[in-house]
Amino acid sequence: MCASMSAAARAHSNIALIKYGGKRDAKLNLPAVGSISVTLNDLYTDTRVTFAPALTADRLLLDDHPADTRRLSHVLDLIRTRAGCDYRAAVESHNNFPTGAGLASSASGFAALVVAACAAFDLQLDNRELSTLARQGSGSAARSVFGGYAEMQRGTADDGHDAYAGSLLNANDWPLAVVVAVTHDKAKTVDSRAGMGATAASSPFYPLWVEQAETDLQAMREAIAARDFHALGDLAEHNCLKMHALMLSNRPALVYWNPATVAAMQAIRALRSQGIAVYFTIDAGPQVKALCPPEASATVARTLANVPGVERVIPTRLGPGAHVIDA
Ligand code: DP6
Repeated sequence: MCASMSAAARAHSNIALIKYGGKRDAKLNLPAVGSISVTLNDLYTDTRVTFAPALTADRLLLDDHPADTRRLSHVLDLIRTRAGCDYRAAVESHNNFPTGAGLASSASGFAALVVAACAAFDLQLDNRELSTLARQGSGSAARSVFGGYAEMQRGTADDGHDAYAGSLLNANDWPLAVVVAVTHDKAKTVDSRAGMGATAASSPFYPLWVEQAETDLQAMREAIAARDFHALGDLAEHNCLKMHALMLSNRPALVYWNPATVAAMQAIRALRSQGIAVYFTIDAGPQVKALCPPEASATVARTLANVPGVERVIPTRLGPGAHVIDA
């Protein structure tokens, strides 16, 4: 029996340009479609994991409050098996942005958890393996292992060994700014996982969504490879609205927007009609993320801060992949 083992990691949240929506296997958490995202520098989770022989159960403190450990224990079990050690863990996790509010805290949270837990056990895994583990906590977390622009592969294998993310470009290869307009910073009532399940079960458009995914993914890969901002923005906005149209067609309908969400979308479209290069995307929540070249960021942030109902704006550039901050 060895002494306790501890490490901490930071992972940044990410925003999908081409959305992950739907699962081909719920138990293994395998996505029905691939996805492409950008990792955000200024929104992140710091997580410390301590495995100790004296602990009888996993414990989680999320932003200083005890939280449910079911999903966390599932991922830790996979890592304990790899490490050949069954110690339970005490996990402390802090988000520097609102939790569970459509800002991808599960993405940064599970990526930080996996990187910290593997470091605590001194398990040397490559990014593909880390991404595969993170995906089993939350699909979008597979992408937060990487910085800059990342793509999640849907994979085709039944056991999911080919469902992981990889890097398309580093953050500095093509600088991009994202301005997050927070319109409601409380946790949402229907989380992404529940929303996805409801969509697959009840939206008449769901089969079309899955069918069209590869077309959007290929066009986005091309836009990123060509550093074509307008192609990227136009497609990101389309793909986002398509996902929300899908959720609106659920029974019962899933409406994540509030009046300020719509006002922020309109403000971004108005800026664009004045010649400013800016597009939006929105995940499963009411926050609006404006995508623009770095030189337009200050104007976009000022405009969004003045939209009625916008509580605050968080301007960010693209950031790095998940990494150990203290072993
Ligand atoms: C709308 O990764 O939170 O943000 O795998 O069930 O944990 P689970 O889902 P999650 O879903 C994110 C959905 C999304 C789009 C995206 O990030 O691609």
